[in-house]
Amino acid sequence: MTVNKKELSRRQFLSTSMSAALGVTGYSLMNKGNLLFAQPVKKKRIALVGTGIRGSSLWGKTLLQDYSDVLEMVGLCDINPLRLEYSKRYMGATCPTYTDFQKMVKETRPETVIVTTMDCYHAKYICLAMEMGCDVITEKPLATDETMAQKIFDTEKRTGKKLIVTFNYRYNPDAVKIKEILLSREIGEVTSVDFNYYLDVYHGASYFRRWHGFKQFSGSLLVHKATHHYDLMNWWLAAEPTEVNAYGDLRKYGHNGTVRSSRCMTCPHKQGCEFFWDITRNEHLMNLYVNAESADGYIRDACVFRKRINIWDTMNVQVQYHNRVTMSYSLNAFMPYEGYSVGFNGTKGRLDARVYHNQSWKVQSFADFRLTRNFKDTQTFSLKSGEGGHWGADRIMQDRIFRNSGDDLLEQGAGSRDGVLSILIGIAARRSIEQERPFAIEELVKI
Ligand SMILES: NC(=O)c1ccc[n+]([C@@H]2O[C@H](COP(=O)([O-])OP(=O)(O)OC[C@H]3O[C@@H](n4cnc5c(N)ncnc54)[C@H](O)[C@@H]3O)[C@@H](O)[C@H]2O)c1
Repeated sequence: MTVNKKELSRRQFLSTSMSAALGVTGYSLMNKGNLLFAQPVKKKRIALVGTGIRGSSLWGKTLLQDYSDVLEMVGLCDINPLRLEYSKRYMGATCPTYTDFQKMVKETRPETVIVTTMDCYHAKYICLAMEMGCDVITEKPLATDETMAQKIFDTEKRTGKKLIVTFNYRYNPDAVKIKEILLSREIGEVTSVDFNYYLDVYHGASYFRRWHGFKQFSGSLLVHKATHHYDLMNWWLAAEPTEVNAYGDLRKYGHNGTVRSSRCMTCPHKQGCEFFWDITRNEHLMNLYVNAESADGYIRDACVFRKRINIWDTMNVQVQYHNRVTMSYSLNAFMPYEGYSVGFNGTKGRLDARVYHNQSWKVQSFADFRLTRNFKDTQTFSLKSGEGGHWGADRIMQDRIFRNSGDDLLEQGAGSRDGVLSILIGIAARRSIEQERPFAIEELVKI
C-alpha cells in the first residue's frame, strides 16, 4: 500500500498527539490494520546504583516526575546510606534502598539497571547487572581502563543483554548540525580535524575539588570528560581510532597552588583564594554531601591545590583514524570561558564551528558556524541550543530511551562499541603520556 506524504504526516500527528495524551493516563496506542487501539502500558522496572548528583537528579527526580507513566523505580543503591536516604526523599521515590547491589537486584527484579556511580565502578555494576539478567543504561565513561572495557564487551556478548551509554552531547543542536553538514559532503571527504575544548575556571576547577582529581577514580579528564568529545568525533566522522599520541601536564591546580588547605569550608585562605567555593550556600549539596560525610569521609569541597591530585589540566592528543583522518585535540581546564572550537578540513572545503557554553548548563549556549567551499563562497550562521539539562540534550535523549521518540536517523543512540571506542582514545592517551610513546588502540582491547 502506498501512503502519500500528507496522509502520513496526518497519521503521525494523530498517533503522536494521542500517545502523548494517553501516556499521561498510563495507556499507549497499538496500530491494528487501519484502527488504533489504546492498551495499558506495562511499566519498565528500573533500579539505580549511585545516588549522587547525577543519579538523584536526571536519572532519579526527572525520571520519576516525567516518565512515571512508562517506568517504575523499584530499587536504589549506594555505598553511602546517608546520601542514599536523602536522595530517595529528594527524588520522591517510594522504593526500598540497598547498600548491597546484588541483594537489590535479587529482591526487586529490575528489567533495567541505571549505573551512575563513580566512574571506576561502572564496569563492575554493568557486568554484574547483565550477569543477573538485566539490561543496562550507564552514564559515561563506560569504564576507566582497558581490562574493564574488554570485560564489558565479553559479558554483553555472552549474556545477550542490551547496554546503552548515555552520550547526551550527541543530541545538542550544534553537534547535530555538524553531523548533518558532514553527511551532506559539502566539504568533500574529511582529511583532518582541529578540535579544542575549553573548561572554565568554575566548571574546570570543580573536577579538581572532587574524586575526579584522581586517575584511579576517573581515569583522568582524558577519560572522564574527553570521552564525550572523542565519542562526538567518532560519531561525526563515522570512523574508528587506530593510534594515539599525547602530552599532558598539571600547570594550575594541585601542587601549583601557593596556599592550600584540605577543604574550602574550613580554609584559612578563604579571603585571598580565587578558587574559594562556598558549598554552604547550596542546601541541596549540603544535604547530598556534607551531611553524608560521616558515612564515607568524602569531601565535596576539597581544595583544588591538594598536592595528591594526579590528573592533568593541560592536555594535547593526536589521533589517527582507520580511514586516514587525523585529529589534533586539546583539553584545557582553567580557561576564562567554556566551550569548544572545531574545524574539519575536507577535500572540497572547511567547516568551522565555535560553541560558547553558558556557565549554567540549564541556560542556552550559542554556536557560530562557518562553511567555506574551496574557490567558492563562505556561508556563516548561528545556532542557539535548547534549554534544560545540558542545553536541552538530556531531555531529548531520555525521550529517545524511554519513549522511543524519533527514528534515530543520525544514529545518535550509543551502545557498548561507541562507549569502548571513545574511552580507548582517552586510555591510550593516558598510557602515551605515562610511557612517552604512541599507543596503538589494538594494544588495548580486541573489539
Ligand atoms: N553525561 C553527563 O553529562 C554527566 C554529567 C554528570 C555526571 N555524569 C556521570 O555520572 C556519574 C556520577 O557522577 P556524579 O556527578 O553524580 O558524582 P557523585 O559523586 O555526585 O555521585 C557518585 C555516587 O556514586 C556512589 N558510589 C561511589 N562508589 C560506589 C560504589 N562502589 N558502589 C555504589 N555506589 C558508589 C557515591 O556514594 C555517590 O553517591 C559519573 O560517572 C559521571 O561521569 C555524567
